[in-house]
Amino acid sequence: MANYISEDKLSEIRNALDIVDVVSETVLLKKTGKNFVGLCPFHAEKTPSFTVSPDKQIYYCFGCGSGGNVFSFLMKRDGTPFGEAVRTLARRCGVDIPERSLSPDEQRRVSERERLFEANRQALECYRQALWHHSEGKQALTYLERRGFLRATLEVFQIGFAPPGWDYLLGSMARKKITPALLEKAGLVVGRKDGSGFYDRFRERIIFPIFDEGGRVVGFGGRVMDDSTPKYLNSPETPVYTKRKVLYGLNRAKEACRSAGSVFIVEGYLDLIALHQGGIENAVATLGTALAPDHVRLLTRYAGRMVLVYDSDEAGIRSAERCIDIFWKEHVDFRRGDVFREDQADTRILVLPEGHDPDSFMNRYGAEAFKRLAQSAPGIISFMIDSAVARHGLSTEGKIRVVSDLQAPLTAVNDSVARALYAKQLAERVGLAEAVILERLNEHAGRSGQRPAGVPAGAAGRAVTRATGDERFEQRIIAMMLQFPEILPEVVDRGILGYFTNDRMKTLGESIVSLWRGSPESVAGLLERVEDAAIREQLAFLAMGDESWNLKGCRTLLTRFVEGHQKKGARRMAIQKDIEAAEKAQNDSEIKRLLGEKQKMAVRREKQKMAARREREG
Ligand code: CTP
Ligand code: MN
Repeated sequence: MANYISEDKLSEIRNALDIVDVVSETVLLKKTGKNFVGLCPFHAEKTPSFTVSPDKQIYYCFGCGSGGNVFSFLMKRDGTPFGEAVRTLARRCGVDIPERSLSPDEQRRVSERERLFEANRQALECYRQALWHHSEGKQALTYLERRGFLRATLEVFQIGFAPPGWDYLLGSMARKKITPALLEKAGLVVGRKDGSGFYDRFRERIIFPIFDEGGRVVGFGGRVMDDSTPKYLNSPETPVYTKRKVLYGLNRAKEACRSAGSVFIVEGYLDLIALHQGGIENAVATLGTALAPDHVRLLTRYAGRMVLVYDSDEAGIRSAERCIDIFWKEHVDFRRGDVFREDQADTRILVLPEGHDPDSFMNRYGAEAFKRLAQSAPGIISFMIDSAVARHGLSTEGKIRVVSDLQAPLTAVNDSVARALYAKQLAERVGLAEAVILERLNEHAGRSGQRPAGVPAGAAGRAVTRATGDERFEQRIIAMMLQFPEILPEVVDRGILGYFTNDRMKTLGESIVSLWRGSPESVAGLLERVEDAAIREQLAFLAMGDESWNLKGCRTLLTRFVEGHQKKGARRMAIQKDIEAAEKAQNDSEIKRLLGEKQKMAVRREKQKMAARREREG
């Protein structure tokens, strides 16, 4: 059972361990200056950008932006929750963790989750028994075997069978003291409308248990064995099942994804099972729902390349369009201002031959053919160019449409080198000068206030506006606060954060201050209390820098920052005074000139605010 672990224990464990040792188990590290570097275990790369600081006891990857302390490293490496990572490390360094009892509310939530997992596990057992031993289970086995699935495979995926009847599960669970109320919460039974009890959700269906990353049963899918509808019935979302966070098969695919460096993403239960049976184990399934940002985040832990497998061009196009959006959100790296580098978001679209899904393809042509096809799967943008050309042809009209279809996606590619390469590719394909294409892209990006379809807020903004001086200044102050915490009291006393115009930087600053107030400690310790992974990674990045701060230098920086803002404020006040004086003197031309200047300052301020807002929303 998950239990609360005290701050003292956490710092005891942190102090007893060296992050360099822990990381070294997974990554070959080389010393360079103060830090160690190696190839990032969380994305595919050829030159090392994964950096570990023994002084600060933190890591940060300049390639994919993951970062944190020794606990975050283990969580990410093993895909385990915080408590589990801490316990693993505690065992390793011989620190004893006494179990503090949870608050009644925490206890209730934890134990409800535990009970749901238990109910699911028992239900899985019941369905499994039925597949192999129930008199009606035979038809399910026959159906699956006829479709080419081996018994051993069915056992690996713990496939089951829900016999016909309204209360098969209810009855067997009652014998195990699992209440209908709990089964209802688990989505396994449904309450009758007239309130007279419950009935089984899954009846006369083949049952596919759905596992989370750690191998716990979170839900089920059930397929009919004939042409009746609905073909599939699935568990609803429950406290242990959030569909956009679960990928079918991931629990079995993790290792294979890591060693292959790539993952196939398919849609169906049987597609995934067919791939695994054919020896392609680096595959997961989204179960018919669209790939969600959380899915991508989950997968980036295991593989650098993602190959989305679709059974038609149309589905491929739709998903490619969505992907542009998702990968924007996932891979935009405001710290470097570039994204969509091939090594970060190597996403490919694999469209199977007409009429085939992965299951039927594997059956007909086999694993080698599948792998060959995958070899030549194009990247998202190339795929979109190809399909636009296929759609519109290469007549003059067609070319115009192709270019216009590609405008939004290409604008979304923020890495200027990648964008130029894609623009070149498009230019060659439609036989236009590259310059013409680039010009179109610039037009598109420059359209003020309006962002191209498929590009999230902030992305286009960043493509056309550079970080302003203010933002850079603020970022530097945050870095200073992390790298030289001695300055924090002064930052607070002088109300520095009050001058910040970039809300994201301001939030980072405020969290640093409040975390430090809780208990002053190392950066590694501070990172732990940041629950939001994105914020933690930003902090790790800013903390990783190695400026040699000293009190005097810090003070000067703060003074310059404050004075800059005060000057702007003072200038505004001076203009206001001049305006009043000019009004008194009825000097119209002077009033006009001063109002114009005031207006200009206001516009500048507004622009800065807008840029900051765009940045924040990005
Ligand atoms: N799906 C669903 N409900 C449906 C239809 C589909 O939840 N009514 C989900 C299932 O996860 C299914 C996936 O979408 O596996 C893909 O659907 P489809 O291609 O129709 O089914 P297949 O996986 O190909 O299943 P089969 O080969 O058994 O027909
Ligand atoms: Mn199928």
